[in-house]
Amino acid sequence: MPRKIIIDTDPGVDDTMAIYFAMRSPELEVIGLTTIFGNVHTSLATTNAIRLMEIAGRPDIPVAPGSDNPLAQPYEGPVPYVHGADGQGDVNLPLPGGNPLAASAAEFIIDQVMSQPGEITLVPVGPLTNIALALRLEPRIAQNVREVVLMGGNALCPGNASPAAEANIRNDPEAADVVFGAPWQVTMVGLDVTHQVNMTGKHLAHYNALKNPMAQHIARIVPFYRNFFETLYGIDGIFIHDSSAVAYLLDPTLFQVEQWPIRVETQGLSRGKTWPNTGKRPVAGWEDRPLVNVCVGVDSTRMIDLEMARMAD
Ligand code: BDR
Ligand code: CA
Repeated sequence: MPRKIIIDTDPGVDDTMAIYFAMRSPELEVIGLTTIFGNVHTSLATTNAIRLMEIAGRPDIPVAPGSDNPLAQPYEGPVPYVHGADGQGDVNLPLPGGNPLAASAAEFIIDQVMSQPGEITLVPVGPLTNIALALRLEPRIAQNVREVVLMGGNALCPGNASPAAEANIRNDPEAADVVFGAPWQVTMVGLDVTHQVNMTGKHLAHYNALKNPMAQHIARIVPFYRNFFETLYGIDGIFIHDSSAVAYLLDPTLFQVEQWPIRVETQGLSRGKTWPNTGKRPVAGWEDRPLVNVCVGVDSTRMIDLEMARMAD
């Protein structure tokens, strides 16, 4: 039986890669997408999620629209220089034919988790607002979910949205602190590992030769994203952030993991910084918090090989 997952996403080029990586992996069943602001506004994230399902030939996979705003502070806005103004590398996609669900992202998550106790894994690869809202509406999802494997945060390394913080967490630190503090198993696949996974131009060139519609779509949208990495980081290729969370689900042995409680800074210059308590000593603020699986090392060659193999044909 494949493991049922809900991907909470702000597509986004690397979100697209992660969603398709999951859909092409027989161990996983994507039972729905929920959308969130981040790389683009929520309305466009929703349009893109529906587009992605139609491109994949899976318009039956439901898309539930998420929150338009973070829990406590205004959304800082999209990042058109990273993913394109359309979030899809500025390739001018037609409008989708389908519509989102009437249920909100939080409602959809609650319905699915509570009706299938112990079966649903949440895979958030954007800001954590919808997940925190679902917890607020129905705290018992914490006992009924299988686990949460998220892309976000930076435990022992600098951020990317600011020197302190990673983009997904920075976009809603209050929500992230709720999610890391809830009584469920969270795995944090953050910049500590994703900045070690460089899918190079040579790897990306393979997508151009692939015939399946998911790989062909990635081949179209990835050049814009790649250009961003070349300009900003001076690297050949891209960091595959969101796919790393999917890779963890497929093969956790790819990662080295530490178990630490995490708090999220919500104030000042370091807003959005994820702070692990790496010591054994209980510290006020971190005491009584659940242990998070924090990914700190990755076999990047094996991970990239896995993703390339799943996308091939
Ligand atoms: C995260 O931010 C977004 O730009 C990516 O889609 C990824 O989820 C990386 O910090
Ligand atoms: Ca994302």
